[in-house]
Amino acid sequence: MEIITNPMQHEIKKAAKALKDGHLVAFPTETVYGLGADATNEKAISRIYSVKGRPTNHPLIVHISSISKLDMWAIDIPEYALKLAKEFWPGPMTLILTRSQLAGDFITGGQSSVGLRVPSNLIALLMLKEFEKLGGTGIAAPSANKFGSVSPTSSEAVYEEIGGRLSDQDSIIEGGDCEIGIESTIIDCTHEEATILRPGYVTEEMILEKIKLDIAPIPWSEKIRTSGQLKSHYSPKAEVILGGLAKPGEGFIGMSHIATPIGSFRLAAPETVLEFAQNIYNALRMGDKKKLKRIVVQLPEGNGLANAICDRLFKAAAR
Ligand code: TXA
Ligand code: MG
Repeated sequence: MEIITNPMQHEIKKAAKALKDGHLVAFPTETVYGLGADATNEKAISRIYSVKGRPTNHPLIVHISSISKLDMWAIDIPEYALKLAKEFWPGPMTLILTRSQLAGDFITGGQSSVGLRVPSNLIALLMLKEFEKLGGTGIAAPSANKFGSVSPTSSEAVYEEIGGRLSDQDSIIEGGDCEIGIESTIIDCTHEEATILRPGYVTEEMILEKIKLDIAPIPWSEKIRTSGQLKSHYSPKAEVILGGLAKPGEGFIGMSHIATPIGSFRLAAPETVLEFAQNIYNALRMGDKKKLKRIVVQLPEGNGLANAICDRLFKAAAR
């Protein structure tokens, strides 16, 4: 496995070629690092599932370089989905749409829909463009962590998670820390009304303000459709406790204005909610490195992004 440091156009081109040849490339996005493979190559996709240890009925997100590629992967795209795409792409938002013929069962977990996203990270975008020049149509990429574990927000974290499971021809692109730090907002656009399946940086309030679109609540029966919706997910080895104060020897995460409980290890002290999102996964990871048994987290307050962080932390705390 190669680690591509300081990636310039030449290295990114090489990575795109490796993807086209059926190898895996872990790469930065603005949300978290993804583990990429050619979305039309069934063999390469099956390797994503085995490296992650992920059940094959959990669908993958296909990354494309621009809104102009939507039609290749999706059909019957509602007007409101196009509005969302025009407003929030490139960016941290995934749209679930009715799949085209191109989207195989091995990508969608056998569902009739496909998840699509145009990332804004420059390395990711450049790699997508180079991949398309070689005849590629999309790069499937789940978060580059073992199934159920904490998503990686740096190339070091990718290496720790799955480095040992990659083969000689696979690579990890080093692209610094992720700008947002938690996964994209997932919006189901297969019904008359849009529903948010996974909250993220793009919030219901932003959608209402920018394109005057109302978001419908998730029907209960659909709540289990995305893997992030499983009760326990995003979990470090340490037990995560929400609220309260840490005891001596335990980890503690909370906004900077909350004092560190005596004898505990401060794992993050973000000044803002965005900083909270950027640091949370790394902080949980640090707790594991220090072999802490418990990490106490004081949840951030507010709607929007704070709500998305709480969503991840509730799952990290579930056993
Ligand atoms: O920010 C992100 O979305 C990152 C970066 C790498 O783009 N990717 C990511 O992928 O978080 P993953 O596989 O860890 O989470 C994607 C979620 C899963 O919960 C999956 O079940 C859901 O998206 N998903 C994908 N396709 C879907 C579909 N057709 N219907 C419903 N859920 C879908
Ligand atoms: Mg994931």
